[in-house]
Amino acid sequence: MARTKKPSEVEIEFEEKAEELENQTEKVKKSAEEATLEDLPGVGPKAAEKLREAGYNDLISIAAASQGEISAACDIGDVTAQKIIQAAREMLDMGFKSADEVLEKRSEIGKITTGSTALNALLGGKGVETQAITEAAGAFSSGKTQLGLQLAVNVQLPIEKGGINGACLFIDTESTFRPERIVQLAEAQGLDPQTVLKNIYVAKAYNSDHQVVLAEKAKDVIKEKNIKLIIIDSLTAHFRADYSGRGELAPRQQKLNRHIHFLQKLADTYNIAVYITNQVMARPDVMFGDPTAPIGGHVLGHGIGFRMFFRKSKGEKRIVRLIDSPSLPEGEAVFTVSEKGIGD
Ligand SMILES: Nc1ncnc2c1ncn2[C@@H]1O[C@H](COP(=O)(O)OP(=O)(O)OP(=O)(O)O)[C@@H](O)[C@H]1O
Ligand SMILES: [Mg+2]
Repeated sequence: MARTKKPSEVEIEFEEKAEELENQTEKVKKSAEEATLEDLPGVGPKAAEKLREAGYNDLISIAAASQGEISAACDIGDVTAQKIIQAAREMLDMGFKSADEVLEKRSEIGKITTGSTALNALLGGKGVETQAITEAAGAFSSGKTQLGLQLAVNVQLPIEKGGINGACLFIDTESTFRPERIVQLAEAQGLDPQTVLKNIYVAKAYNSDHQVVLAEKAKDVIKEKNIKLIIIDSLTAHFRADYSGRGELAPRQQKLNRHIHFLQKLADTYNIAVYITNQVMARPDVMFGDPTAPIGGHVLGHGIGFRMFFRKSKGEKRIVRLIDSPSLPEGEAVFTVSEKGIGD
């Protein structure tokens, strides 16, 4: 006879967490395009039918409607109608804010120094920003991982030294995380290496699905661990490997898109910085201009706040170019990667 053991408290908690996580994942998976009227809280089959009869066939039409129109269409109170409209707007990610709210939110943006004055300046002054995704694309050895490790240390610095007093979550997809290197970087800043290591939470992602789940799970620890920076090194490697067939490009982009979208939401909601790295693909057919392009192409580009291209120069020197930034001019800067980390 099989022994039955009463599950421990930890096991019960784990199961609950797993279920919660699954629900969250489900929610994220159901993108706004797939969502139907019935997905709106408070809209049952009857209300949905009435809405459709009145010509409201999708979320966007509801999001654009006025309270009075909706309440008249399905014979409900104004408050409920407002809730339904609000929910539709949220699902479509069109939470309208007044400009002063936007300004206030922007005033909370924290900045993490990269270690290089020139690179900081290129990024608008003081380094990598919270509430945004910053991408480093470039060939091997161009410094993408090095900047990630440096940021994992620098985020922990006090504000007057260019940090934001936070911890870091490092999602490692290529097994490139090196604690020894963190020790070296921490010592170079005069920080206690043990403390610095304790404030970096590393998770290894085994494939693209796992990576997505880890990012979603991050939500649970951000507050508890005071996470202010999430690094994914590399964002695209697993996606590239897992979806390699010709017909798989569309599903890959869709999934990457959602992943990025989710990361942006995390950045906004929790006022954290997200730093991702991206390999570049060689394009031997290009004779003039840039012979490389980041994986994920333009679809990815639209979801990212700051896109940098790194390329190797002489010795420790690296050249960085900023592209596609919403508010900053395109430009180039030179930084260095040395034993002490990122510098000028
Ligand atoms: N301890 C160190 N001392 C001096 N330079 C170092 C040290 N560690 C790394 N570097 C420099 O950083 C380079 C590696 O950069 P990095 O690992 O960031 O590349 P990457 O852009 O992430 O490349 P990949 O695409 O292969 O992941 C090395 O070639 C070296 O120049
Ligand atoms: Mg790397």
